[in-house]
Amino acid sequence: MSLISGKQPIAEGKTKRVYLHDEPDKVILYFKNDITALDGLKHDVIHGKGYINAYITKYLFEKLEKAGVPTQLVEYVYPNIIIAKKIQMLPIEVVCRNIAAGHLVKKLPFFKNGQPLNPPVIEFFYKSDELHDPMVNEYHLQALRITSEKETLQMKDYTLKANRVLKDFFNKRGLIFVDFKIEFGRLSEDNLVIGDELNGDSMRLWASPDGRKAFDKDGYRSGDALDKVRETYIETFKVITGEEPLKEGLES
Ligand SMILES: Nc1ncnc2c1ncn2[C@@H]1O[C@H](COP(=O)(O)OP(=O)(O)OP(=O)(O)O)[C@@H](O)[C@H]1O
Ligand SMILES: [Mg+2]
Repeated sequence: MSLISGKQPIAEGKTKRVYLHDEPDKVILYFKNDITALDGLKHDVIHGKGYINAYITKYLFEKLEKAGVPTQLVEYVYPNIIIAKKIQMLPIEVVCRNIAAGHLVKKLPFFKNGQPLNPPVIEFFYKSDELHDPMVNEYHLQALRITSEKETLQMKDYTLKANRVLKDFFNKRGLIFVDFKIEFGRLSEDNLVIGDELNGDSMRLWASPDGRKAFDKDGYRSGDALDKVRETYIETFKVITGEEPLKEGLES
């Protein structure tokens, strides 16, 4: 891919590489075909996954932008690249839950799987694979100088707005929007935007109220065969975008 040929990544995570862009206020995000779970202990490669996740990210970020929630999105480049605003990523994950599932039920078992959460529950996790992303609250974030008071409010406001937009959108598609994870970056002081990615890997999206059919990564987490996991990625592409993925993209 010419955009990145000959370039060295400035950062590499489990699922993406970051490259400098010729314009200094932008970066190139290259979505890899790697799939991981359990803090990276489980790892595989699925062809077309980078394409699917980059495309869904672009699709959902455009939706958020239209609704007034700022994101890092500048441009999508087929098949698996997003040109993004260069931002200072905050070392936290923001989770928003409409229905109790996963980690919440495991850690706080007085919440039952499938239980509706009204108002939605927002949680913050400090990003650290060694510490398994411990939960922190907004006072910790301010004491650690990770976010200012204004930025903390902004983060909650954008998260709840994004939740409303996405929940309405998925409900219209007959899906249950259980929870999602986003990351924020600082464009300038007291000015955050949603960074990183937003796709089936960052949410729980149920097709049935018991969650047995889902368009997300829980199948992979619980040991489904890779063929089935790949099929779920393709289904997720279709159900979210309403479009057919390109055959060539799926082979990339
Ligand atoms: N717009 C951006 N500008 C700069 N860095 C970004 C941007 N968007 C995402 N990143 C960073 O890209 C890196 C690679 O992403 P990836 O999702 O692969 O990481 P990861 O495996 O989840 O690990 P990490 O715990 O570092 O996020 C991450 O450190 C992420 O914060
Ligand atoms: Mg990541």
